[in-house]
Amino acid sequence: MRVEADLLVRHARELLTMSGELPAADAKGTWDEGPLGIVRDGAVAARGGVVVAVGTTAAVEAAVSLTPDARVLDVGDRIAAPSLVDCHTHALYVGDRSNEYSLRVRGASYAEIAARGGGIASTVRAVRAADDDALLRELRARLDRMAAFGTGFVEVKTGYALDTAHELRCLDLLRRCGARVVPTFLPLHAVPPELRGVDGGRARYLAAVLDEMLPAVAAQGAARFIDAYIDGPGFSVAEARLSLVRARELGLRARLHVGQFEDVGGAELAAELGAASADHLEHVSDAGLRAMAAAGVVGVLLPTAAFTLGQAMPDARRMRALGVEVAVATDCNPGTSPNESLPLAVSFAVRQMGLTTVEAWWAVTRAAARSLGLRSHGKIVEGLPLALSIFDYPSWEALPSQLGRPAGQPV
Ligand code: NIG
Ligand code: FE
Repeated sequence: MRVEADLLVRHARELLTMSGELPAADAKGTWDEGPLGIVRDGAVAARGGVVVAVGTTAAVEAAVSLTPDARVLDVGDRIAAPSLVDCHTHALYVGDRSNEYSLRVRGASYAEIAARGGGIASTVRAVRAADDDALLRELRARLDRMAAFGTGFVEVKTGYALDTAHELRCLDLLRRCGARVVPTFLPLHAVPPELRGVDGGRARYLAAVLDEMLPAVAAQGAARFIDAYIDGPGFSVAEARLSLVRARELGLRARLHVGQFEDVGGAELAAELGAASADHLEHVSDAGLRAMAAAGVVGVLLPTAAFTLGQAMPDARRMRALGVEVAVATDCNPGTSPNESLPLAVSFAVRQMGLTTVEAWWAVTRAAARSLGLRSHGKIVEGLPLALSIFDYPSWEALPSQLGRPAGQPV
């Protein structure tokens, strides 16, 4: 009995199902392609968006009967893989901060740029002043450009609004983008400009987050995660803990900015909270990494932010050796990482952080999807929803080496 299908993607030179398993800890690097679950001359058939058959083209064609209006796509000399998952972005923004790049190249630090009115505060002013249409238009255009690199799911943080009304508005705009966007509430990104330098302003903001913003955000129901910037220029563990614990009670799991500039104990806090992820990790101790591994916290590397900031790249090999599951993301934001290409982030992660190409595919599919609770995505398996991209690559090994070329196309 053949199963009905309304979509057939066939003759992929390589179909990456990502249905294998990656060793939990690996000091030397996983080079063996087993985790990728590659099918040569591969095909996938789906009905109503759910995979009904996956295997070689011959096997899938023998197993399905196509509905009269079925779409048939020949992948040909290209590869097919799960749509990539970008699990850390600040993509809801307007405004231009390209001058910061020149300042940085001339030696200005993150803190100096912030002190001169640049940095997060400048985007906060721009986002608050923009109308909904402008914000949505820019976000959707950005998501479309990300899709041209093969990205199908994008986590997007708020954190450029920093007051209750505007944070709720931003979360609502993210909701309006549908299933491709996973919304994260990021209240502890910075002290809002109107409270900076004001006596008691910092404490007032922390109290407002706890007593006013969190309940309002939970009642609105649009956010899936909560984030906080746990770092020297951000917030301390003590400042963030209360809000993060309260958020967890309200059903918001943490994904945290940790150790971008200083190790202030963010990795340990992420482990203690059972966070979904701890991100950046330029400065993190082995004890912090071990705590993350034991608690199943995904480590999210953001190489294009480290590049823009001129930082030494963190050591992904050390993370894998200690048993941390590693994801890679763009950190797309107007200041420290104006990057919409997840494959470009992978290029740095492979060449400069020590991931193998096998681990990098894992990082932008399975690990990223797991960190976002997208348990049905990041792999192509019968019975699960189909989110697949076609990549104009001759082989899976091209992912890190095709610098800057938009080669992806979600189906
Ligand atoms: O991930 N470090 C905090 N947040 C961002 C920077 C955001 C911005 O500069 O606008 C980051 O790098
Ligand atoms: Fe970030």
